Amino acid sequence: MASGGELINNKQVIFKNFVEGFPKESDMEVKTSSISLKVEEGSNAVVVKNLYLSCDPYMRIRMTQSDQETDDPEFIPFTPGSPLEGFGVAKVVDSGHPNYKKGDLIWGMVKWEEYSLIENPQLFKIHHADVPLSHYTGILGMPGITAWAGFYEVCSPKKGEKVYISAASGAVGQLVGQFAKLMGCYVVGSAGSKEKVDLLKNKFGFDDAFNYKEEHDLDAALKRCFPEGIDIYFENVGGKMLDAVLLNMRLRGRIAACGMISQYNLHQPEGVHNLMNIVGKRIRMEGLMAFDYFPQYEKFLDAVLPFVREKKVVYVEDIAEGIEGAPAALVGLFSGRNVGKQVVAVAKE
Ligand SMILES: NC(=O)c1ccc[n+]([C@@H]2O[C@H](COP(=O)([O-])OP(=O)(O)OC[C@H]3O[C@@H](n4cnc5c(N)ncnc54)[C@H](OP(=O)(O)O)[C@@H]3O)[C@@H](O)[C@H]2O)c1
Repeated sequence: MASGGELINNKQVIFKNFVEGFPKESDMEVKTSSISLKVEEGSNAVVVKNLYLSCDPYMRIRMTQSDQETDDPEFIPFTPGSPLEGFGVAKVVDSGHPNYKKGDLIWGMVKWEEYSLIENPQLFKIHHADVPLSHYTGILGMPGITAWAGFYEVCSPKKGEKVYISAASGAVGQLVGQFAKLMGCYVVGSAGSKEKVDLLKNKFGFDDAFNYKEEHDLDAALKRCFPEGIDIYFENVGGKMLDAVLLNMRLRGRIAACGMISQYNLHQPEGVHNLMNIVGKRIRMEGLMAFDYFPQYEKFLDAVLPFVREKKVVYVEDIAEGIEGAPAALVGLFSGRNVGKQVVAVAKE
């Protein structure tokens, strides 16, 4: 608990009410409340100053009212009238917890506000601040570990294999493509604009890319890019794309089911028609959740931090300035407005 000490203003992004269909900026509102920057003596809590907030597609799932019980913290519905929650990068301003001290930089679950009181902190300490701190919302944070575990572990890749990634220019996709190139794979991505397709080919080094919004026949687009078929599909969008991919998978192909953003705003999910391909082609399709791999965070950092420092992997971020811009930034994920990892910069250190 926070107590004593001076109260200061705290801008918050409040979740107004449960959402149906596409989320809108008006589903959230920025309000000012107050907070003490001191934790109560004897408590285990920390108070942090939020520097960067991460906009992630799973947050839409938390905007839906649900009576299904879940133990997955990433899927527990938000509470109307309270601030949204999400991954963020922050600085500890006071701590009653033995593992954290004032001045520590951390990343983990925070609330969408300028300062957060965190009662049971389970936060990663940032020990490497020679890289941009915003990277801990992306390449060195939750999307990074998702791409790393999803590609290297779930996809079981081999040099020379043919890899396809949807939503390929985003927080996760741009990394999977670059990891696959480093392994010597042939890599194709799809994205929703010419600018993003150019990024895939010219900045991230993909072998080929296409704008799925301009393809009236996704099956034909995939046959054009993969005349011999796909060994690995990194699934970010679901729906019609998954159906077209299933027709183009090779024998013993692997599909890492990371997300299905095309389905998150639908009342009824679309059906998948070509599942029988999984049988005949002996395809392995496996879901993954980032937080299953959080215990391997140090191993992940050992692998990926050198890529960042040596510029073997580049990372494009789309940074909205100021907490007032957070609702628009989050909503923009669902129309593809973000170019690269969507971050909100709340404060300078
Ligand atoms: N399993 C996990 O633990 C985990 C962790 C992180 C992310 N994910 C999932 O991974 C996927 C990508 O996440 P991210 O953080 O990297 O997001 P992102 O790609 O940075 O942003 C979302 C992008 O999705 C695309 N999109 C939106 N609506 C779409 C639609 N109807 N059809 C096709 N594409 C659409 C847009 O790009 P275009 O302009 O290209 O359409 C948009 O920019 C999401 O499904 C997310 O839920 C899963």
